[in-house]
Amino acid sequence: MNDNRASSDAAVSTQAEVSEEIRQITKAYERDGVEETQPRLDYPPYRSSVLRHPTKDLHHADPEGIELWAPVFGHQDVDPLEADLTLQHRGEPVGERMIVTGRVLDGDGRPVRHQLVEIWQANAGGRYIHKRDQHPAAIDPNFTGVGRCLTDADGNYSFTTIKPGPYPWKNHRNAWRPAHIHFSLFGTEFTQRMITQMYFPGDPLFALDPIYQAITDQRARDRLVATYDHDVTQHEWCTGYRWDIVLTGTHRTPLEEEDHA
Ligand SMILES: [Fe+2]
Repeated sequence: MNDNRASSDAAVSTQAEVSEEIRQITKAYERDGVEETQPRLDYPPYRSSVLRHPTKDLHHADPEGIELWAPVFGHQDVDPLEADLTLQHRGEPVGERMIVTGRVLDGDGRPVRHQLVEIWQANAGGRYIHKRDQHPAAIDPNFTGVGRCLTDADGNYSFTTIKPGPYPWKNHRNAWRPAHIHFSLFGTEFTQRMITQMYFPGDPLFALDPIYQAITDQRARDRLVATYDHDVTQHEWCTGYRWDIVLTGTHRTPLEEEDHA
């Protein structure tokens, strides 16, 4: 870290300060004993959430009006190759090749079929392709980090990709996001659109990350963490992770606002 960056960051909180805020909120949550299953919209350690969260009640939208604007996908619109993020360029991307697969289920455990699942992610060095990402790690010319697929008749989705790296962001000084993949699902109605993040088991950054910690309940947080699955891992080819997504009900996968890091 050079001196310029250090001095311009002088007013920014340290990780120790943010971690202490996280600890106090966790203590209060445990004391209250009221289960929360979704991220808090107003979570001060996650600095920009304070400016962005709604302060008024949500308006009911007219679903029929919205659906007029909703995209309509058929099988012919999604090429099966779009589910393999390692094949989008001439060469092989750098990093740990892996399969991420799972099922999309409704609140009663029924498969959600022919569902559009979209993902976006950083490359192995923790760098996104878009310009807003100024993290000084290399762009991989063989990796864009965007894919999509439709679930099959049993609600299964599957992507082949590269394990993303952790990356720094500007929430506080020395802030790092745990490795994650962003997921978007349209649900069975447009008003059910869900955006969330999938994490990897045992990430050492979990305790330090205000976005992950904004989900105050450990069981709800656990629902965002994939499981390593050796039956998904392929001999001399790639590792495998499994992650199921529940769209509705009490075991619903925690979702988030759209503009997350
Ligand atoms: Fe991200």
